[in-house]
Amino acid sequence: MTVRSGRVLDELSALAGEIDTPRAKMVFDLLAETVAAYPQTPAATFDVIVAGRGRRIHLKLEGLSPWGSIKGRTAVGLLASVAPRLTDHSRVIESTSGNLGVAMAGLCRELAIPFTAIVDDRLPTCMDRMIRNQGAELLAVAGTRDADDDLLASRIRLALHLSSLDPNVVWTNQYENAANPLIHAIWTGPELFTQLPHVQAIVVAASTGGTLGGLARAAKSSNPNAIVVGADVVGSRVFGGPSGPRVLTGVGASRPSRHLQEVTCDAVEIVPSWHGVARCREWRDKTGLALGGSSGVVLAAALRCLAARPQLTTVACVCPDLGDNYADTIYDDDWLRSQHAVLEGADDCPPEPLPSVELIQWAWEAEPPEMPATCAYL
Ligand SMILES: Cc1ncc(COP(=O)(O)O)c(C=O)c1O
Repeated sequence: MTVRSGRVLDELSALAGEIDTPRAKMVFDLLAETVAAYPQTPAATFDVIVAGRGRRIHLKLEGLSPWGSIKGRTAVGLLASVAPRLTDHSRVIESTSGNLGVAMAGLCRELAIPFTAIVDDRLPTCMDRMIRNQGAELLAVAGTRDADDDLLASRIRLALHLSSLDPNVVWTNQYENAANPLIHAIWTGPELFTQLPHVQAIVVAASTGGTLGGLARAAKSSNPNAIVVGADVVGSRVFGGPSGPRVLTGVGASRPSRHLQEVTCDAVEIVPSWHGVARCREWRDKTGLALGGSSGVVLAAALRCLAARPQLTTVACVCPDLGDNYADTIYDDDWLRSQHAVLEGADDCPPEPLPSVELIQWAWEAEPPEMPATCAYL
């Protein structure tokens, strides 16, 4: 175990609270082993020219982690927080747009805890397979979308209903559970600021706001000079803006974030969804690195920040997942054509032009890691 993970484990046990049953101890010990074995996610460095000036962008690639996204860390925190409540009869449930479901399914399989993922029809097909193939149950809500064109409210209603019916059902509740931001404050954040101590800004996508809330807290203690920038899409209500149609999964939500009520970030960039999609495809074409949709949004937000702030020279982008989850959406030409109206019209009228960026060179911090095959875990 490294010193780094030793410190995380101390904080994790504070998060879990009183562990006084053998079952809870077994769960906590396995989560501790997971943290100790978790790799530091790599950062790829890109030197670019934005608005006529040379700048450096680091992409911290959370997709290169055991369950393919930053939600592996969130799942550890959520499960640690409910460990004292788990018995031999427990079933864990969680509402998810995909990545958290994959991570919870994987972790619960290792912990021998039955898991139910509550999803909706936007769940990417490959994530549906990944969740089922890890032995988890999938419950998909259907029906009319609410005013925000979103089934989040229905997913949450179902989770609430199931957990109130049966005391053996434990809902980890990523939307309200303080363990969500906390795990990023004690783990993701210190890792990022140790790995990239010189960054002047970090840019983080928001959905529940857990990652952003936690990293904003970590910045205050690890690098108080760094600006923390929240990234979201037009039409999302995470930061309280007006609702509208959205096409990207993982980023944005139809209601304001509970986790961002007490934490403030220094700036918020709300970008049109098509900028996120365009940056994903541009980066894939120029560098071979295919990012997930929310990472494209983060990159678009970072480039906007760099264009507007000449004093910023070095920025870190937290990239929640990679493009392998989006082969049949963002990287599929037919999908792109089918979403044309939302991407280029309704959510941003008149369409905001995409600022140009010149890529000079790029490098991994060490050797390029092996990219996961499309839809790993099949
Ligand atoms: C694809 C993707 N983007 C963004 C995020 C950030 O979400 P949250 O605000 O819920 O931490 C996540 C989740 O970690 C994600 O899976």
